[in-house]
Amino acid sequence: MAAASEEEDLHPLLVSAVKAEYLRTFVLSNLQARAAAAGSSSSLGAVLKAAVGGDADVSAFLAGSLSHRGLLARMFGDRLLVDRALSIIWGQSRWDNSDSRWVGCVDALGTADEEPIAVALVGCGAFGSVHARRILACPGLRITWLVDPSRSSAETLAAQPFWEQPPAITTELPEALADSRVGAVIVVSPPSTHYAVAAAALAAGKAVLCEKPLTLDLKEGQALSELTEAPGAPTFVLGYPRRFGIDDHKIRSSILSTLGRPLFYRDVWGVVKGHASEEIHRLNGGGGLLYENSHTLDSYNWTLGTPTEVFAVAEKFKADPTGTHAQDTYLLVIYYEGGDKVVFSSSWAAPGIGARPWQSYGRRIRPVMDIVGPQGFLHYPVEDPEFQDSYLIFAGTAEDYVEKERFPVRNDHESGVYREQFHFQECIRGRQTPLCTARDGVMVLAVIAAAHKSALSGLPEPVVLEQPREGAKKRPREEQVVPEQPREEAKKTSLQ
Ligand SMILES: NC(=O)c1ccc[n+]([C@@H]2O[C@H](COP(=O)([O-])OP(=O)(O)OC[C@H]3O[C@@H](n4cnc5c(N)ncnc54)[C@H](O)[C@@H]3O)[C@@H](O)[C@H]2O)c1
Repeated sequence: MAAASEEEDLHPLLVSAVKAEYLRTFVLSNLQARAAAAGSSSSLGAVLKAAVGGDADVSAFLAGSLSHRGLLARMFGDRLLVDRALSIIWGQSRWDNSDSRWVGCVDALGTADEEPIAVALVGCGAFGSVHARRILACPGLRITWLVDPSRSSAETLAAQPFWEQPPAITTELPEALADSRVGAVIVVSPPSTHYAVAAAALAAGKAVLCEKPLTLDLKEGQALSELTEAPGAPTFVLGYPRRFGIDDHKIRSSILSTLGRPLFYRDVWGVVKGHASEEIHRLNGGGGLLYENSHTLDSYNWTLGTPTEVFAVAEKFKADPTGTHAQDTYLLVIYYEGGDKVVFSSSWAAPGIGARPWQSYGRRIRPVMDIVGPQGFLHYPVEDPEFQDSYLIFAGTAEDYVEKERFPVRNDHESGVYREQFHFQECIRGRQTPLCTARDGVMVLAVIAAAHKSALSGLPEPVVLEQPREGAKKRPREEQVVPEQPREEAKKTSLQ
């Protein structure tokens, strides 16, 4: 933990610049609001350009093509000083340092002295472009192929200004997999394609980082999980970036250090945006649970262990023109093997009720959450003059309690993505083991399947979860057959 005096030793401007990370979205929204109030017809880009005096680095940061750390390093011309400041300021939030896999990622500077692993990025849509930008903070990985059946999507991404060397483009996955220089595949295609793409990549000997949800279907998820656990299978990491975000780590460590267990975790979400993906809407039981809230379900599992039973009620309020059956409003009670319980409610039909529209992961979509344990409790949100919303932790019981700590909401979901990418390359190089596996993805799908079954039954009883089948035991890394070079002959598997 850092002492306050350490912070005082640092250049005050540097300290405020580091803290500004959390205020970035606030500044953007303010500028927009001011332009609107002044009746300015200027675009946001023009307003920002005027505000930052056309500074190219700041503009690149605001556009998302330069990382926060990169911007600070350029501003101060001293990367070591910047890293010291970052670790002191992050250290002040006193998170639990017990998981070296995660902490290693937060402090990582990348491995510039190692030959980067060549990556094929499969899926060049909205989140594919987030992966492409975020990977710049991880010199140990370099995207060399963009794969998308829509050539124009791949071309649009390849035309972005941030590439040092624009990747090759293909509409055929086997072409990229046949490139023996490619060591890894990042799967950012729609969930219905995850199984086919990941299975082909694993068969070709490539390590895989697969976006969430693992698959749309529990059985398909089981099958993929078994492939990842086969003897000698390449590295497989499932992409739930909240496992690499500061908020979830703080919540997890507060439970361990103050709240105690078993506990009651109460959480309300009002996801207003819905999702453009028709395939997710088309599925019964899909909707909010499979898309946005699968992050949240994974986060509970990660924090609390193995879920065993689920009781759910669900309703469909929102008409949708495609006539789908996915429910939009849920209430779930999830029981965990250690005795913890989660009461989770989510709706796409009612807007979130927070007053913070600039926050992507704030009160607007998670208006309230609290955790009650035998030795203390945690509340969210609480106003904090410096950091917008905070979590507030109390030790003691309702009769007799003291404020123990408050910590600001970081909303660092996107930083979670590059930490996750860094972790992926550390796993490929054998220095870490996956923090999120296909089996974890199956567990999320099992909660969703049980919730759907419970809601359809209308019975006032929880449904027992289908637990992941034991796959063939994966051999320890040193016994694995990890090819020096990925196989020349990629298995011919069609993209579609
Ligand atoms: N981790 C997160 O926070 C997060 C956020 C958003 C999306 N995602 C996940 O990322 C994935 C993609 O989501 P998106 O929002 O970018 O969707 P999108 O629809 O914007 O993009 C998907 C892209 O994949 C392409 N595609 C379709 N079939 C393909 C195939 N067989 N092989 C390769 N490419 C194919 C499409 O042409 C499109 O360009 C989904 O799994 C989604 O759940 C994760």
